Amino acid sequence: MVICKSPAELEKMHRAGLIVWGALEKMRAMVRPGLATKELDEFAEAYTAEHRARPAFKGYRGYPGSVCTSINQEVVHGIPSPSRRVREGDILSMDFGVELEGYFGDAALTVPVGKVTPAREKLLRVTRESLERGIEKVRPGNRLGDVSAAVQQWVEGNGFSVVREFVGHGIGTKMHEEPQVPNYGTPGQGPRLQEGMVLAIEPMVNSGGPGVRVLDDDWTAVTTDGSDSAHFEHTVAVTSKGPWILTRPREATGPVW
Ligand code: MF3
Ligand code: CO
Repeated sequence: MVICKSPAELEKMHRAGLIVWGALEKMRAMVRPGLATKELDEFAEAYTAEHRARPAFKGYRGYPGSVCTSINQEVVHGIPSPSRRVREGDILSMDFGVELEGYFGDAALTVPVGKVTPAREKLLRVTRESLERGIEKVRPGNRLGDVSAAVQQWVEGNGFSVVREFVGHGIGTKMHEEPQVPNYGTPGQGPRLQEGMVLAIEPMVNSGGPGVRVLDDDWTAVTTDGSDSAHFEHTVAVTSKGPWILTRPREATGPVW
């Protein structure tokens, strides 16, 4: 069952979402060659505590961190480590979620570390744009397949591939609610979107083939062909006025990250 939220509940989710956004913006500003991924995790923990929220990922199915930090060929769920330092030319995905007063927010972005190759720049741009194209489809009366297909078409039209093993999700009083939100699909198919539904849309895009596998740490997903991967995510509500991105300030305009 897909749960619809009241306007008051959406306001609560927006408060959670703004903490996620604020932490990710600060984390993005911390990124420089030599930064250890654990430093991002420590920052996110402190920021979350200051804002009286709880890191949503920590302890989830035994996940040890508060953020997921995934570098280059790592797709998602990289575990922050004091010995894992980013280098000039890397791309770094940061995925973060919080719970505030019973409501969740979840978002992610991938950033360049210093100067990166044009191929990596394109991967980041196309993945962000695929999220933007998915978000545009978040309107009452549209179907979930419209969102999924918009993401997939933009990714594949640009020569990249969409990961199948991980998907976006409904979100609310739990981090993962129905429906699943795949980054591939068929326009006009799937559940109809209704006012008050909230979706975490999160394209995971590989520069090579779509395959992924999980490392022996039981978390880190990497591309099977060693190609690069990027990940962008926002928590988005369906409203009569169109998509409401809950994981950024209301007044924000322009690119979603
Ligand atoms: N954005 C991811 C998701 O929604 C983050 C989950 S990481 C985990 O599924 F560690 F919490 F599993
Ligand atoms: Co998510």
